Amino acid sequence: MTKIISFANQKGGVGKSTICLQTVFYLQEAGYRVLAIDLDPQGNTSSRLSQGDEGAYSGTPSVRLFDEGLNEIQPMRCERGMDLIWTMKNDPELSEIESLPLSCVRHPIANLKASGILEHYDYVLIDCPPSLGRKLVAALTMSTHVICPVQVSGFALDGVEGLLNTIISVQEELNPDLENTGMVINNLKRGFEEDMNTRDQLRKAVPDLVYEAEVGVRGQLDVANLNGVPVWSIKKTSAREAAKEIRAVIEELMKKVG
Ligand SMILES: Nc1ncnc2c1ncn2[C@@H]1O[C@H](COP(=O)(O)OP(=O)(O)OP(=O)(O)O)[C@@H](O)[C@H]1O
Ligand SMILES: [Mg+2]
Repeated sequence: MTKIISFANQKGGVGKSTICLQTVFYLQEAGYRVLAIDLDPQGNTSSRLSQGDEGAYSGTPSVRLFDEGLNEIQPMRCERGMDLIWTMKNDPELSEIESLPLSCVRHPIANLKASGILEHYDYVLIDCPPSLGRKLVAALTMSTHVICPVQVSGFALDGVEGLLNTIISVQEELNPDLENTGMVINNLKRGFEEDMNTRDQLRKAVPDLVYEAEVGVRGQLDVANLNGVPVWSIKKTSAREAAKEIRAVIEELMKKVG
């Protein structure tokens, strides 16, 4: 059965797109058939997977998934071999989904199923936008699993409860099969006592909901994002360290997803 994984957190800049993108590369290189769906109107994942060439976008954009009774879905084939349901940078139409009736959250999964395209993939990875709106609920409604990248610095953990409650509501009302694989701590400043204390408190408070693997501040992830490449393809010692941490997260995710 196709595993559909959402990368979710209503906070911006916590690493959703970064971890999603590296997971796409990892699974693609492992020989799996991978589809990425970009539900974030910022279009980060789309531009990274298309090497910044928005002119090359073809096939069905992600906003169409919210149409009722979409007959056909045509993902775009990326150069590296994975497929993509893209969004244009700052797509206003995708932003406007938030003003549609709540029932629109059921359309993407209905369309994916009716189109028959899920059978073509082992993994579908969804990059979610930084809000608790329709698009996130739609993503969770079509997912078998969700992973929540979090940061422990500053106020980045505020609102995590809202995210966990959103996941529970979706499990109760829309998608009982959704499994929360938990929160993965990203961008951890290991030299900062405050960060480490917050991390320890989080692990103590919800031990089953925090990934064992965690990712420190790794500038090479930025470089990997900028170039739209796997961080392990960068030939630098600092990239090797980043790759080791990211791979540990992905491997833990895969273990949970089965
Ligand atoms: N562990 C890390 N170390 C250093 N930089 C990181 C790390 N993780 C992510 N970044 C950088 O932080 C920025 C935000 O990351 P990313 O885009 O993945 O977050 P996001 O949660 O998808 O944000 P948004 O909600 O705006 O889509 C990016 O520039 C990314 O390269
Ligand atoms: Mg993002």
